[in-house]
Amino acid sequence: MSEILDDANAKQSAYWNGEAGRRWTAVQESQDRLLGGISSALFEAAAPEPGEAVIDVGCGAGDTTLRAAALTGRALGVDMSEPMLARARERAAEAGSPARFALADATLYDFSAEAADLMISRFGVMFFAEPARSFANLRRGLKAGARLAFAAWRHPDRNPWLMVPYTAALKRLPPQPPLPFDQPGPFAFHDDARVRDILETAGFSDVAFTTCEVELDIADGKGLEEAVDKALTLGPTSRALSDQPEAVRAEVREEIRATLAGRLNAGKVALGGTAWIVRARA
Ligand SMILES: C[S@@+](CC[C@H](N)C(=O)[O-])C[C@H]1O[C@@H](n2cnc3c(N)ncnc32)[C@H](O)[C@@H]1O
Repeated sequence: MSEILDDANAKQSAYWNGEAGRRWTAVQESQDRLLGGISSALFEAAAPEPGEAVIDVGCGAGDTTLRAAALTGRALGVDMSEPMLARARERAAEAGSPARFALADATLYDFSAEAADLMISRFGVMFFAEPARSFANLRRGLKAGARLAFAAWRHPDRNPWLMVPYTAALKRLPPQPPLPFDQPGPFAFHDDARVRDILETAGFSDVAFTTCEVELDIADGKGLEEAVDKALTLGPTSRALSDQPEAVRAEVREEIRATLAGRLNAGKVALGGTAWIVRARA
């Protein structure tokens, strides 16, 4: 992996190959249900056609890669997380899917053999240290005029599903730095002007944004404990907890439980989420 990992992205690689990647892999099925509404909006915007070659960037455990491969017959998922990609490969084998996978940093991966018609990503492109450079490399995997369509979270204020648990966690955590909005992470692409600039610098054109608003049931219909478990795996909370001792983690868990209890309704803890669906052409 080291020869295809960019130094600047090493921190993300450690995160997605460490506990976070393992936790995401463990909850993959509920995660895919949670993000189902976003996937539908993404596929509607991407409109994959039979026979088209698709690349899925930051494909994780492969949900969108498998879906693309089922629709087109040809999809390559690229991800830097070994545990998540292992799950993707397992699922492809189980499903007899034609999807292929590559374990690599998308910033350095040699896409020249691909000549894809479509590139998609469900929340896999906000983690690049130098995004314009990474997108310039991604563009090399596309035919001239090919489509790019990806989902990225909008501002935290529009994402209570992430911020309600995080705000509860902050009550029990030592003082945390402000969320690093323009740094690699779940909110790095909240600012559409910045995203447009990144894509245009990387050589993409016809950049367009639509908003996708969804309700995300972080309990997956299974009640409060499931919601608390899920909340601890979510971006800002999971990152803030990663270097905390067990005693603090236990206090945070209690605080999140108390907060989410007030939101529980018929086994669900449904909170709002808002993403950009970004489209462009190579
Ligand atoms: C939020 S997860 C999304 C995973 C998947 N697309 C999904 O929706 O379930 C972000 C993914 O991006 C991957 N990722 C982050 N930076 C990457 C990079 N530079 N190259 C390849 N994958 C990357 C991570 O390993 C992780 O699997």
